[in-house]
Amino acid sequence: MTLTKKEQSLLKDLQNEEKVCAEKYHKAAECACDPKLQQIFTKLEQAERNHYDTVTQMLSGTVPQMQTQGKAQNQKGKQPAAQDLKSKVSRAEKKSDAYLLADVLATEKFVSGVYNTAVFEFNDPQARDVLAAIQQQEQQHGKEIADYMSANGMYC
Ligand SMILES: [Fe+2]
Ligand SMILES: [Fe+2]
Repeated sequence: MTLTKKEQSLLKDLQNEEKVCAEKYHKAAECACDPKLQQIFTKLEQAERNHYDTVTQMLSGTVPQMQTQGKAQNQKGKQPAAQDLKSKVSRAEKKSDAYLLADVLATEKFVSGVYNTAVFEFNDPQARDVLAAIQQQEQQHGKEIADYMSANGMYC
């Protein structure tokens, strides 16, 4: 696939966003008080690293094969129940975790929007599919974060 200047510039933005996302989740996992939340953040860090690799591959002109959609669907199947997401940490620790969660949720919302813009700008149908699949995964990340927040009375 030959990229236009605009497509190239969008992919570079996305590459940078994914790097920031992975770093953010890495830090959040270190800072989180609830061990369950640490696990969630670590899992999402890995997902952002995969996105980074996909975008990097696209920047080099290759559109990766789409197994992403199936994976996203599988993740939907094993979503934990609200009770299993209940945090057992102190009030102060919960407050600190809530801050981390609000921050990553805002980031997911923003990045999802950047993917949406990219889908509209790309010509190659396969590239559009890959970008749309990643956007769907970002929405799924947002859902996981929001679910944890509402299970712990942090979502208003
Ligand atoms: Fe991502
Ligand atoms: Fe994400």
